[in-house]
Amino acid sequence: MVKVAVIVGSLRKESFSRKIAENVASLFPKDYQTEFVEIGQLPLYNEEYDSNAPEEYVSFRDAIRSVDAVLFVTPEYNRSVPGVLKNAIDVGSRPYGESVWNAKPAAIISQSISQLSGFGANHHLRQSLTFLNMPVVQQPEVYLANSPDLLDENGKLNNEQTIQFLQSFVDSFVDLIKKYQ
Ligand SMILES: Cc1cc2nc3c(=O)[nH]c(=O)nc-3n(C[C@H](O)[C@H](O)[C@H](O)COP(=O)(O)O)c2cc1C
Repeated sequence: MVKVAVIVGSLRKESFSRKIAENVASLFPKDYQTEFVEIGQLPLYNEEYDSNAPEEYVSFRDAIRSVDAVLFVTPEYNRSVPGVLKNAIDVGSRPYGESVWNAKPAAIISQSISQLSGFGANHHLRQSLTFLNMPVVQQPEVYLANSPDLLDENGKLNNEQTIQFLQSFVDSFVDLIKKYQ
């Protein structure tokens, strides 16, 4: 079984990012297992913790170490990555030389309730993943605008075009993951 961690950049219960992530998780092939790895419980990163890691850091790092790839689904906050997601990235990246992200294939979906679609968050996240040596799906890029309109009252994607587009994105991600297996 190939394991993919799903990390959502919003802590809101009714988060559109989370609903989209749940839909996308169901588009992976049968021999893939998706696991939502939570980030809201992580204390703010402090370099002093490198020698004395909080329990939450230990289990988060273990969870990422145990997967083959990582899918990020995030909103944009103030034209960038939400702080809670950046914190999780920083936590996983340290102690220096022991980053749990290293060489894990990744994919990014950004979404926004407006027409902006999270381009800024998507590309700021790409900048960090480049440094962290994560090969990232290049095409198709996924910027979902007007996200509330894409979901029905049960949180399911409501149109075939978006489902097919996201399926093509997952297929590209699977191709990338296979190259690194
Ligand atoms: C602090 C904050 C900053 C935001 N900044 C942006 C922004 O820069 N661009 C944008 O398109 N939407 C922005 N929004 C609106 C988000 O797109 C919207 O709140 C979205 O629903 C958040 O995703 P979620 O549903 O997964 O929580 C911002 C929202 C918050 C709370």
